[in-house]
Amino acid sequence: MLDVLNPLAVDPILTLTLECNSDTNPNKVDLGAGVYKNEAGHTPIMKAVDTAEKQWYQQETSKVYVGSAGAAGFNEAIMRLLLGSDHAAVLDRRVVGIQTPGGCGALSIAGHLIKRCYGSVQREGTVWVSAPTWANHIPLLSDCGLSLKEYRYYDGESHTLDFPAMMEDLSKSKANDIVLLHGCCHNPSGADLNQEQWQLIAELLNEKGVVPFVDIAYQGLGDGLDEDAWGLRYLAEHCPEVIIASSCSKNFGLYRERVGSVFVVAKDSQVAEINKGQLMNIARGIYSMPPHYGAALVDIILHDLQLREQWQEELTFMRERIAGLRTRFVQKLNAAGAASRFDYIEQEKGMFSFLGISMDQVRALKEQYSIYMVNSSRMNIAGLSDKNMDYVVQALMQTL
Ligand code: LMR
Repeated sequence: MLDVLNPLAVDPILTLTLECNSDTNPNKVDLGAGVYKNEAGHTPIMKAVDTAEKQWYQQETSKVYVGSAGAAGFNEAIMRLLLGSDHAAVLDRRVVGIQTPGGCGALSIAGHLIKRCYGSVQREGTVWVSAPTWANHIPLLSDCGLSLKEYRYYDGESHTLDFPAMMEDLSKSKANDIVLLHGCCHNPSGADLNQEQWQLIAELLNEKGVVPFVDIAYQGLGDGLDEDAWGLRYLAEHCPEVIIASSCSKNFGLYRERVGSVFVVAKDSQVAEINKGQLMNIARGIYSMPPHYGAALVDIILHDLQLREQWQEELTFMRERIAGLRTRFVQKLNAAGAASRFDYIEQEKGMFSFLGISMDQVRALKEQYSIYMVNSSRMNIAGLSDKNMDYVVQALMQTL
């Protein structure tokens, strides 16, 4: 029976890391997977996380099950981090959520929840995703049995968000459809919506009876923790229903511990509680309950004033480092003759930007210079450093 399956293409992002790891060129540069790196090219354990680990080691007394919703303290703290403590939806007890194995776990649980809803509505909706979107969104949500459509988002020619095209496509959405939006630091483009655009989207979705689904995996790495959640908070205030997938991989650096959460903002607290039961039931049927360790660390950090402050300072340092790399990269490219071709990179947010070069040029950078990035020319800005930047600039200018 097992011989009926077809071979599949490997995951483009995860494979890149493996390829780069096995490259012996001492000058290699990994601009592939979205992980934060310091000046030495290392992804360190954040100091606040390190302290929380030591505390946890002292205070953990049992390995007994935690349940399908995961750690209650974690869920509460993340809800407040995402929406703010005084958000109307929080005060009205219309927000419920569970801890999940990473952001992918959150997306998957949300996808199954949407599919369950579609079993009971007259018209099964479509999930709209941005073109382009993160490479795993489409396969992951399709695996939940959902039908997907793309809306235009980023214009690769002008290197800008094509908001009129986005609105034109979304105006074709219908009741019960879902629109997946990136809360901040759009992956892969780095081009984010501004406040006015979030407002116009909320208005359109409400008019159409469409539910926003916000994937927020980079909170704190764009403009700041509150700033990056502005759009999400606006939607949660102005739309009757919102689905949220969040991740602690990037902003707590807890990648391998798989810490994420899925939240539902419902029209009232009763519907919210029913949805919580559904979320837990879906989790129980797939993995029963999420891993506890990483969430326990986040729980400690967010409930300890000093540790929380330290974590925020570290996150600010990471964010500012990436912004500084963007500025210096553009300056160096212009000094090398790029004639402002890449100036847009400085304005974009979070870890990613497109270089806007061909797949052959991406391949040439890898084969001739051991510089690794996704075929679409998405590069992880955090993989640059003052040490490797001249090398990357020269290689890129040669390749052009
Ligand atoms: C990325 O987009 O590079 C990261 O989110 C890592 C991943 O899992 O793809």
